[in-house]
Amino acid sequence: MKEPPFVGARFFMGSVTNIANRPFRRLVTGYGADATIGEMAIAKYVVNGGKQDLALIKRGPHDRIFGAQIVGGNPNHLAKAARLAEKYGADFVDFNCACPHQSVVSHGGGAVLLRRPEALVLQLDAIRQAVSIPVSIKIRKGFDEDDNVAQEVADIAQKAGFNAIFIHGRTKAAQYRGSCDWALIEQIAQNADIPVIGCGDLANGTDVLKKMPETHCSGFALARGAIMKPWIFKEIKEGHAIELDAEQRLDMLSTLVAYTLETFGKDEIGLKKSTDFLCKQLDFLTRYAPPSILGYELPMQERAPDWAPRSELEALWKCTDRENKIALLRRAGLPDPPEPRTISAAQES
Ligand SMILES: Cc1cc2nc3c(=O)[nH]c(=O)nc-3n(C[C@H](O)[C@H](O)[C@H](O)COP(=O)(O)O)c2cc1C
Repeated sequence: MKEPPFVGARFFMGSVTNIANRPFRRLVTGYGADATIGEMAIAKYVVNGGKQDLALIKRGPHDRIFGAQIVGGNPNHLAKAARLAEKYGADFVDFNCACPHQSVVSHGGGAVLLRRPEALVLQLDAIRQAVSIPVSIKIRKGFDEDDNVAQEVADIAQKAGFNAIFIHGRTKAAQYRGSCDWALIEQIAQNADIPVIGCGDLANGTDVLKKMPETHCSGFALARGAIMKPWIFKEIKEGHAIELDAEQRLDMLSTLVAYTLETFGKDEIGLKKSTDFLCKQLDFLTRYAPPSILGYELPMQERAPDWAPRSELEALWKCTDRENKIALLRRAGLPDPPEPRTISAAQES
């Protein structure tokens, strides 16, 4: 691994919209994530002062090292959003040039910048000049299926004074199809003078541990691996695979429920927000298939074959419908929603 690592961190919780919020980042920080990156914030909305958008770039009280991620295609907005991120305690600003979503790309932001080098330079310069904290760029291999512009973009970012490159080894067009091009990631890391953090398809701690002895990357960012198995960071830190049984996963979920309620509150709005988030989170947590049943650790690109639960709780963990998710969340301590308020005749008059 290259020395020194970006912001002193080797293992990052990657940015994951709708999941990597404060409570979730607190959970993975507890499992050993060195650094956490916030959910993507659209610079224009941050600048317009949207409360929820501003919240995305603010450091949480439990983030160890926090990167605020911004996206957009307007240098003024990006510069202002970066400044606000610095003001609200971010340790670094991550500029997302990998986002594939049409709503972002059609406004000149995200992955479209991979194919617009002149516009990219303007955005990078604006962000670099706006803040004194380190800045990183998140890129993909390219835009179209056959693109490979990562080296060109990495060179541009380095020249613009960026301090690190996060790279996902797939094109925007490929989304999540095929396997992540780790040969490309390693090549970019070998050529760069700044730290390169690789991401893509790291499903288990063992995937990271295998790469570590020979990698040129200064670190790794985990996304799906961490949202399906948040204790992946513990596996990496302890250097071996860890299986949590159904009860232990329920304990983990109880911790996440407690962190979520602490963040969003227990009133009607807080409970609704908590339930929505936790159900989304459970879409990923319920994809965990115990290696002691399968006989192997599930790789990222493989769907688990059908497996037979060994207990009633394990069966709950396997089921993905909302009713089951709510049942799991109740067991994990999420309170029932308040009864709908009824207006008495006396109140009405
Ligand atoms: C549900 C979901 C939301 C994501 N949101 C973001 C995001 O907001 N910003 C970002 O840079 N990447 C985002 N990603 C991409 C991941 O950070 C990561 O680059 C990609 O999933 C590859 O890594 P993985 O194989 O470890 O998942 C998201 C991925 C998923 C699955």
